[in-house]
Amino acid sequence: MKTDFLQYQAQTSPHPLMVDVSHAKGSYIYDTDGKSYLDFVAGVSACTLGHCHPKVVKAVQEQTEKYMHVMVYGEYIQSPAVQLSKLLAEHMPAPLDCTYLVNSGTEAIEGSLKLAKRATGRSQLISAVNAYHGNTQGSMSVMGAEHRKQAFRPLLPDVDFIRFNNEEDLQKITHRTAGVLLETIQGSAGFLPPQNDYLAKVKKRCEEVGALLILDEIQPGFGRTGTLFGFEQYNVVPDIVAMGKGMGGGMPVGAFSASKKYMHLLSDGPKMGHITTFGGHPVIAAASLATLKEVLESDLMQQAVEKEALFKKLLQHPKITDVRGRGLMLAMMVESEDLANHIILKCMEKGLILFWLMFEPKAVRITPPLTISKEEIAIGCKLILESIEEWKA
Ligand SMILES: Cc1ncc(COP(=O)(O)O)c(C=O)c1O
Repeated sequence: MKTDFLQYQAQTSPHPLMVDVSHAKGSYIYDTDGKSYLDFVAGVSACTLGHCHPKVVKAVQEQTEKYMHVMVYGEYIQSPAVQLSKLLAEHMPAPLDCTYLVNSGTEAIEGSLKLAKRATGRSQLISAVNAYHGNTQGSMSVMGAEHRKQAFRPLLPDVDFIRFNNEEDLQKITHRTAGVLLETIQGSAGFLPPQNDYLAKVKKRCEEVGALLILDEIQPGFGRTGTLFGFEQYNVVPDIVAMGKGMGGGMPVGAFSASKKYMHLLSDGPKMGHITTFGGHPVIAAASLATLKEVLESDLMQQAVEKEALFKKLLQHPKITDVRGRGLMLAMMVESEDLANHIILKCMEKGLILFWLMFEPKAVRITPPLTISKEEIAIGCKLILESIEEWKA
């Protein structure tokens, strides 16, 4: 299988981790040699309820037996997609009452950017230095890291960047700006939360000049930071919110929400201003609905905050310089890039999954399923500390 994986399946890096997956359940992934891995990454913030949560599996099975794909997005009434959109509207602040379902995070960003352009009649897009919003060409255009996109230019024109948490740069947002796209908590940059009411100030500037604020909730969304959406903690309501990853409970999905007034613009002038075949897929929407219900009806969001405190308490070591982030979106910062690499690889050997952050080499990603138990957190943190002790610089 390993040879075939390397030969026939396209690779994304020269050194894939190559865990040969047999099955996964709860907080654990098992390989074909019978080794178990405690998962502190959750498929990169995607498996909100752990692996194969029974309610998600049941929703998928039940829907599969009724119908799967029947028609392109938006033509037929398919109850899982309708119920999901309605439940989201009931739990988002006004005016975010209408949701467009797509297939991935980057597509949610593409739709959001198009909506901002369509709603304002402007073209300029602004995002942040070190921002990551996905890998299709629109999302890549607003990525705040030139070295990663140079090879793919030309990308979208009329894109500018501001420094996250820097208030001086807000003057770059002008009457020419269609949309300002920010991650509520900057992910790839190192899990940097907004400070000093920054997002509210960005929103105010957007209102002054008639630009739309788009918040990327693809990682913090769906309860990961202790509230359904991260922005609820920062005194701001965006005009458009993009979501993905954790909303599928392990299935591929994305969505963007806005007011009905704005969203209507995508169906008129031009008609079919945004279309997708599989968006709102009934099986995926059923999985997402089951995930959303569980997040809302359980105390997982409150637990995320308690578990954050536990991680911060347990991850104390002179070589750990900080544990950043909110809820279960945490980055353990260490002294050097080499040490971060050592911890991630050593823990893999010990049966604990950790991962890197794209633009912050001294960070170790800790984004476990929200369902992880306190005992599992203690087991994993012990392995991390052990691996640091084994480090010989
Ligand atoms: C903040 C953020 N935005 C967008 C995306 C893109 O999502 P996807 O990989 O589902 O296209 C990601 C994925 O890592 C992300 O972390």
